[in-house]
Amino acid sequence: MSFDLVLFGGTGDLAWRKLMPALFQAFRHGTLPEGGRIIGVGRDDLSHDQYRSLIQSRFDKVDLAKRPSAEEFARFAALLEFVRMDLSKPADYARLASTLQERNADTVVLYVATAPSLFTTVCEQLGAVGLNNAKTRVVLEKPLGHDLASNRAINQTVRGIFEENQVFRIDHYLGKPAVQNLFALRFGNALFEPLWRREHIANIQITIAEDLGVESRGAFYETTGALRDMVQNHALQLLCAIGMEPPINSHADAIRDEKLKVLRSLKPWTQESLSQDVVRGQYASGTSGGGKVPGYREEPGVNPQSNTETFVALRTEISNWRWAGVPFYIRTGKRLAGRDARIVVNFHPTPHAIFNSQIGMANRLVINLQPKDGLELHLLAQGQDNRKTTHAAGQSLVPVQLDLDFDKRFGSGRVGAYERLLLDVIDGRLNLFVRSDEQEEAWRWVEPMLEFWANDAQGPRLYNSGTWGPSASSAMIARDGFCWSEES
Ligand code: BG6
Repeated sequence: MSFDLVLFGGTGDLAWRKLMPALFQAFRHGTLPEGGRIIGVGRDDLSHDQYRSLIQSRFDKVDLAKRPSAEEFARFAALLEFVRMDLSKPADYARLASTLQERNADTVVLYVATAPSLFTTVCEQLGAVGLNNAKTRVVLEKPLGHDLASNRAINQTVRGIFEENQVFRIDHYLGKPAVQNLFALRFGNALFEPLWRREHIANIQITIAEDLGVESRGAFYETTGALRDMVQNHALQLLCAIGMEPPINSHADAIRDEKLKVLRSLKPWTQESLSQDVVRGQYASGTSGGGKVPGYREEPGVNPQSNTETFVALRTEISNWRWAGVPFYIRTGKRLAGRDARIVVNFHPTPHAIFNSQIGMANRLVINLQPKDGLELHLLAQGQDNRKTTHAAGQSLVPVQLDLDFDKRFGSGRVGAYERLLLDVIDGRLNLFVRSDEQEEAWRWVEPMLEFWANDAQGPRLYNSGTWGPSASSAMIARDGFCWSEES
């Protein structure tokens, strides 16, 4: 099956850091279908060879497990081309269309990795030159809009040009191996399903912590913030994967229908919950990676009086029969104590204790997404000192862990998130992509927080870089009698 993959934003940050490395890995693993062509689109005046050399020079800065040899890169580079375009000029789209028509590939993937403000223009122009025919698929990067109204406007335009099954709204967290494994754990095994409910689960914690700051993206981040950048999409998709009902089959719409139901069941915000159950923070200077780092307001491109949040912690509930009353905590932030993404499922403690040191110790399942993916089941076991204790004050239990490290089990060369998702687009599989109604529902739910903050004179709480965020985040969860997993 031949394909053309057109990358709008072909000289942008995402292309260098994620998309080109992912395409290269697929090429290296032999999973990229043969007969493919990758066309970078940008404003610069570059020849194909100059574009190839630029990509080669960037490959030195990204994590590719193993550097490509000159010969290996040359074979990959043979797939690469560059097309110069001014995205506001209709004539440039007509030129692109004729380039694509000449080769007439079986599938044309149009990956729009541009500034979000260009999404609608690009889609309209693609439609105008017929690049919305049945063999085209359009991939839209996040953020898709900055609130519900703008998201709806984009979706409405896109729907007028493409069929829903041609639109691949990407959330790269859904492509992470740990998320695939969460689906496998829940729907490929009967073991946890009876326990996966309010009767057995005390609380669920979703943490996506980054140690990096905003780096070179200060200007973008200023108008985005952690809620739009991470919660509206990645964190809510993880919450859906944890909270959804088993889908009736593995088809894209069966999965997306169930995720949508979770989003619709999220407890609506009130003025009281907005002030008590949401903590917004912003990093101040501190220490990260062993060195001193500046605060957010000192970063390039950032307003020195900025109130943009770089941290959010919140408490919500899924109001349905399975989950009523179970707190779901979400926490994400930049310049935190480490790069650490995990979902922690805390089960209820035993109702009655017959061992010493047992009360308060909950069984816990940890799904690690980053820096490594794996599963840990935390249990209590009889410790070493039973000879002494059985006759004295009774048996003492110690915490132990069953560990499943997916790298060790399956090898470290597994398919990464963008690689998985790009291959899915080329193959036309929508399972791991977000439908427009899901996205709108997620915006509907985050919007009250944005409105509340817009009228909140207090601004974000400052936290030192290299910590776990403002202390209010621990206080929020402590009100329910719980603590974040690293504090227990
Ligand atoms: C992106 C956000 O969607 O996800 C970035 O825009 C963030 O701000 C990134 O750093 C995190 O992704 P990952 O895969 O590195 O955890």
